[in-house]
Amino acid sequence: MNNFLMLCNTRASVRDYLPTLPTAEAIDRIKEAVRLAPSACNKQPWRFFYVTNPELLSQLFQTYPRPWLSTAPALFVAVKNVAENWVRPADNHAHGDIDLAIAVEHLCLAAAEEGLGTCWICNFDTKACAELLNLSEEWQPVAMTPIGYPGEKHQDTGRKRKTTEEIFVDLV
Ligand SMILES: Cc1cc2nc3c(=O)[nH]c(=O)nc-3n(C[C@H](O)[C@H](O)[C@H](O)COP(=O)(O)O)c2cc1C
Repeated sequence: MNNFLMLCNTRASVRDYLPTLPTAEAIDRIKEAVRLAPSACNKQPWRFFYVTNPELLSQLFQTYPRPWLSTAPALFVAVKNVAENWVRPADNHAHGDIDLAIAVEHLCLAAAEEGLGTCWICNFDTKACAELLNLSEEWQPVAMTPIGYPGEKHQDTGRKRKTTEEIFVDLV
C-alpha cells in the first residue's frame, strides 16, 4: 500500500473530539491543501470559514444539533458562489457543488495527514447557517466539518465499501 492509499484508509468520519485546538501550523497546511484543489474552469467559486469563536461555534452547532458535534473545538464551513461557478453549456448544469466537494475532501485528507479528525456534514440547516455567517444571496453553504483531535469515544468502523468489481466497469 502506498502513502496515499494509507491516508485514504486513515481518514474516517470522527464523531467525538478532544477540546484541544489544532495547531496553527497544521491548519495552515490544511488551508494550503484546500487552496490547491482543482475546480471547473479554475473558477474557485468558494470561501471557507474556519470558526473557533466559542459563541459562533455553538450557534453553528445548532444548525446540526447532535451532541457529538459540540465536542469539536473548531469547524470549517464551505460556501459556494452561485454567480461564480462554471455552468456547463450543454445542459446548464452548475458545477459549484462538485468544486466544493473536491476542496472539502482535500481538507479532510490533509487533516488526516495531521492526525486530525473531520466529518463531512451536509444534513444541516443551510439557511440558518447562511444567516449566522451573514452571507449575501450569491453565497450558499454546501458542507461543513468539525475538526480536531479524535476523542476516546471515536470508533472507526473501517472503510465499508462496495467492492472494486461492483463499482468499476472496465471496457477493454
Ligand atoms: C457528501 C457527504 C455528506 C455527509 N453528511 C453527513 C452528515 O450530515 N452527518 C454525518 O454524521 N455524516 C455525514 N457524512 C459522513 C458519511 O456518513 C461517511 O463518510 C460514510 O458513512 C463513510 O464513513 P467514513 O467517512 O468513516 O469512511 C457525509 C459524507 C459525505 C461524503
